[in-house]
Amino acid sequence: IPVDQFDLVIFGATGDLANRKILPGLYRRYCAGQIPEGSKIIGAARTEMSADEFRDQTRAAIAEHAGPMADDKKAVTAFLEILEYVAIDAKGDGGWDTLKSLVRTEAVNAFYFSVAPALFGDLAERLHTRGIAGPDARIVVEKPFGRDLASARALNATLAEYFDETQIYRIDHYLGKETVQNLMAVRFANILFEPLWNSQFIDHVQITVAETVGVGGRGSYYDKSGAMRDMVQNHMMQLLCLIAMEPPYHFDPDAVRDEKLKVIRALQPVAPADIVRGQYLASKDAPGYLEDSEDPESTTESYIALKCHVANWRWTDTPFYLRTGKRLRARTSEIAITFKAPPHSIFDEAEGEWRENVLVIRLQPNEGMNLKVMIKEPGPGGMRLVQVPLDMSFAEALGPEGADITDAYERLIMDVIRGNQTLFMRGDEVEAAWAWTDPVIEGWEKRGDRPQPYDSGSSGPDDALMLMHRDGRRWRDIRE
Ligand code: BG6
Repeated sequence: IPVDQFDLVIFGATGDLANRKILPGLYRRYCAGQIPEGSKIIGAARTEMSADEFRDQTRAAIAEHAGPMADDKKAVTAFLEILEYVAIDAKGDGGWDTLKSLVRTEAVNAFYFSVAPALFGDLAERLHTRGIAGPDARIVVEKPFGRDLASARALNATLAEYFDETQIYRIDHYLGKETVQNLMAVRFANILFEPLWNSQFIDHVQITVAETVGVGGRGSYYDKSGAMRDMVQNHMMQLLCLIAMEPPYHFDPDAVRDEKLKVIRALQPVAPADIVRGQYLASKDAPGYLEDSEDPESTTESYIALKCHVANWRWTDTPFYLRTGKRLRARTSEIAITFKAPPHSIFDEAEGEWRENVLVIRLQPNEGMNLKVMIKEPGPGGMRLVQVPLDMSFAEALGPEGADITDAYERLIMDVIRGNQTLFMRGDEVEAAWAWTDPVIEGWEKRGDRPQPYDSGSSGPDDALMLMHRDGRRWRDIRE
């Protein structure tokens, strides 16, 4: 969908996110013809530098992070021409007049707050009171959106002083992932799954986000956060919502977000016995969590597995098992939906081992879907059953276009410019997610629980296996 001319200001333009994702992403959209002529991208940060120095920094960021499109030197040069830079003092006066002179209030204008949340209020206040933000301005805020319910409420209240909810775009980059959006397409554009999508037919759901990286380099942020705040409260919660929500009446921002909110509100408190936390140990060639976090006494978790329940008509009796961790065996994110056994088997045991149908949605890497079904083993030996995968990778099914998965940030930034909030979290949604998360964290803090050590390159702590074994179920292997 074409967009109108816009001015986008990136606060924190010299930071890691701007260099790794935002600027290279904008360049790729530029190459795709989605940034109309006359648009401007204005970097703003504390550092004093000229627009040309900012362009040089962006050129390097594109070379490193924009993929093959970075080779098009002509396009890079043309893109750099739409960049401007302003050195700005978020808490003072410096730079604001220059910024005002650069931003056209009559064009679509958007302000990306890629800065510490402590500065959100200062930026919002100045944009508003100095008349820099036009009537249709949008602000984009990054996670972490608070670290508990109280701080998230405070942030929402601060932003609400200057901007309407329809102007606030809270990013959860998981919602920008191609396959995450595909969850909605799979569920709501096919008749096949929805009739079975409830606890009458679904035994359980597993959601896994496994990473191989550790927290080295960002230990000071991570140690105050941990896997629960860093991944579960936001990304995994969003995945769970997309799997569990009722069909919205339309693919429309508030219709979708209303349904997600109902899921979050239906989440039951998690029992202590249903939580396993872990910390990775050092390996031959990498430090352990305690060294990465630089606090030898840290009790922050780099891994968490938990069982939760969505208490409503659709999901009563279907547990959702969530796990996520750093320094695990492989980088893989997937959702596995395990169906129940058919109500009656017409086959004898001798006719093969019956196994349940499983629908696996691979979020990354090798995005695709795999439906495990039972068939007759080919051959003359009579009726023997065997399970086979109906396996599809998007890259194979869709050709080269399927393989060119747009980066989440690219898509989300363009949605901001288009004014489409469907893939952004609403304030009440974030607060509800914290309202569920807070007591879980308070619980283990009060009990003084310590995370269990696990080997780097493993599947996480052994107790996480028990979390499912004791229910007669098992985690899927973590592998690419
Ligand atoms: C971020 C977390 O939000 O998501 C990181 O802060 C995590 O700790 C990252 O590594 C995972 O994102 P992705 O897109 O690599 O799965």
